[in-house]
Amino acid sequence: MALLIKGGRIITATDDYVADIYCEGETITRIDKSIDAASLKKNDVEVIDASGKYVFPGFIDPHVHIYLPFMGSFAIDDYESASKAALAGGTTTLIEMICPGPTDEPFAAFETWKSKAEGISAMDYTFHMSVVRFEAAVREQFKQIVDAGVASFKVFLAYKGALDLSDESLFAMMQMAKKLGVIVTAHCENAEAVDAMQKLLLAEGKTGPEWHGPSRPPAVEASGVNHICTFASLTGAHVYTVHTSCEDAVRQAEAARSRGVKVWIESVAPHLVLDETYAARPNFEGAKYVMSPPLREKKNQQVLWNGLASRSISTVGTDHAPFRFADQKVMGKDAFTKIPNGIATIQERVDLVHTYGVVPGKISLQAMVDSCSTKVAEIFGMYPKKGAIQVGSDADLVVYDPEFRGTFSQADSLSKVDYCAYEGWERRGRASVVTLRGEVQARDGKFVGTTGRGQFVAREPTHG
Ligand code: URP
Ligand code: ZN
Ligand code: ZN
Repeated sequence: MALLIKGGRIITATDDYVADIYCEGETITRIDKSIDAASLKKNDVEVIDASGKYVFPGFIDPHVHIYLPFMGSFAIDDYESASKAALAGGTTTLIEMICPGPTDEPFAAFETWKSKAEGISAMDYTFHMSVVRFEAAVREQFKQIVDAGVASFKVFLAYKGALDLSDESLFAMMQMAKKLGVIVTAHCENAEAVDAMQKLLLAEGKTGPEWHGPSRPPAVEASGVNHICTFASLTGAHVYTVHTSCEDAVRQAEAARSRGVKVWIESVAPHLVLDETYAARPNFEGAKYVMSPPLREKKNQQVLWNGLASRSISTVGTDHAPFRFADQKVMGKDAFTKIPNGIATIQERVDLVHTYGVVPGKISLQAMVDSCSTKVAEIFGMYPKKGAIQVGSDADLVVYDPEFRGTFSQADSLSKVDYCAYEGWERRGRASVVTLRGEVQARDGKFVGTTGRGQFVAREPTHG
């Protein structure tokens, strides 16, 4: 069925205008001031009245975990639950982190992760390939993964002994990334410093979730950002600091950028709206809010919003890493170091950014679109197929009702996680209609589409 979206206020990363959008097959085929449904030489056209609403390009989440063996457990969502949740919230494409273990074969890991999504995902998806080992014997496999359409690597400077990479391997990997034109995304926390801090705190009997933050203070993250940027300046690789949480880390990246380092900064929704006091909630409830880098002092939130407004910070992701409270977070009852790290946010991201960023005037609608869609597509080689409202782009569109009033609640969540980190919070705005390549997949916060419709988005390297 073709789609005619009439009378909406089209918001892109740079524009704001009223027009009609016609989508035939999987793409946008016409954008005009007024398109008369009767004039279309097609019988099966669904007309969507978007008057009084915004029309956004489908949102893209640059940082998601779905299949994640981590900290003695597995993240609880699968592609069915995560993609339905994402679509209900207006996100039409995600980039998942492939996170193999230190002895896994990289190409086999790529195939495993792909198999979790193929035929199951309701939304489009692609991957960042984590490099947790880089000895000579496995290097060729990373070239094969890039040839297969994965044009970004991921490196963890944190998680000592599990996911972190030696500096020797990091350097060699970044040389290869530069040669292939593949951007390196990086979790920037100094693993040794975190490990030492954790041991000190536990030895002092400081075992609760409120000590997770003090074990990885801003200096630890700033040091990680400086480290990756130093390696970027030596190798010429392009880098992207994931879930950048605090002023110290942002300033390190900005300083490196001013020295000529090619560095992009990602923020994630939890750091924009939650602060360290959540992780200190009594009766172990703080465990729900344990993620890394940790939630920070509130003053950092304004720094992140300002960075988005000025576009020094490029993107807003979620770092969706869903672990149930009842039987997973609770694994860390006796030691915060055993609480699986992560906060589920894939369904709430767009509404959080609208409610707490756009409505109070911290960022513009254009900055919202840029950071939650367009810039993600540009940085990771999907633009203008994704992230744009243009003739020829995929018909991934979000008709968004800014007048909707409600609250965030676990009751509406399609993720399998057993709590909502934003329970009871005011919610202003909701996706009324969400289309993926020309088919309606969600309406009014509910999934109404086809599971398995999602496709792998193959990407080309973005720089020479
Ligand atoms: O706490 C987090 N961020 N969990 C997921 C793994 C990661 O570091 O991204
Ligand atoms: Zn991370
Ligand atoms: Zn992550």
